[in-house]
Amino acid sequence: MDFYETVNTRKSVRAYDSRPVDEEVLERILKAARGSPSAKNLQPWHFIVVRNQAKRTVLAEGTWAKFLRESPVVIVGCGNRKDSPHWSTVDTTIALQTLVLAATAEGLGTCWVGSFSQEKVKECLGIPKEWDVVCLISVGYERGKKDLTRTLAGGAKRKKMGDIVSYDEF
Ligand SMILES: Cc1cc2nc3c(=O)[nH]c(=O)nc-3n(C[C@H](O)[C@H](O)[C@H](O)COP(=O)(O)O)c2cc1C
Repeated sequence: MDFYETVNTRKSVRAYDSRPVDEEVLERILKAARGSPSAKNLQPWHFIVVRNQAKRTVLAEGTWAKFLRESPVVIVGCGNRKDSPHWSTVDTTIALQTLVLAATAEGLGTCWVGSFSQEKVKECLGIPKEWDVVCLISVGYERGKKDLTRTLAGGAKRKKMGDIVSYDEF
């Protein structure tokens, strides 16, 4: 899959089948995340791979997160506020999006999930206090998927280019 095909194929997947994600595939997408840029190369991120059903059920308690019960993997992206106070969230977000695109190129479905309680997720996964939960990413094979290709026109609507891009001034 070339880069633009990957970008245009990605969409939020909220229904998963029970097929597990191979270890090698998981390792490849985590290594892709590791290769992301970070301010001063501090790499202030940590990715928790959650496969445990009971823990995924806790992660799924957010209003818009119910499907985390069925995605075989949830990646919890954490940023270290102490090591990189200004950029830990940005850096971790960049790494998570790299992981999302790598997962797409592997034929996996993903969805960003911001619907979670910082306190509950930290408690459930034993995350130390200097770390923030930046976002959760569901990972797995889409249930009922018929066609891998998806153009932006056929997916979630996007703003017009003229409304989001300008040249030489706002
Ligand atoms: C930071 C962030 C948080 C999000 N949180 C949720 C969420 O909690 N639940 C959910 O179902 N989708 C969530 N989404 C997915 C968006 O709804 C989705 O990306 C958007 O509607 C565009 O659709 P697309 O991803 O299919 O292009 C989130 C996306 C981002 C980037």
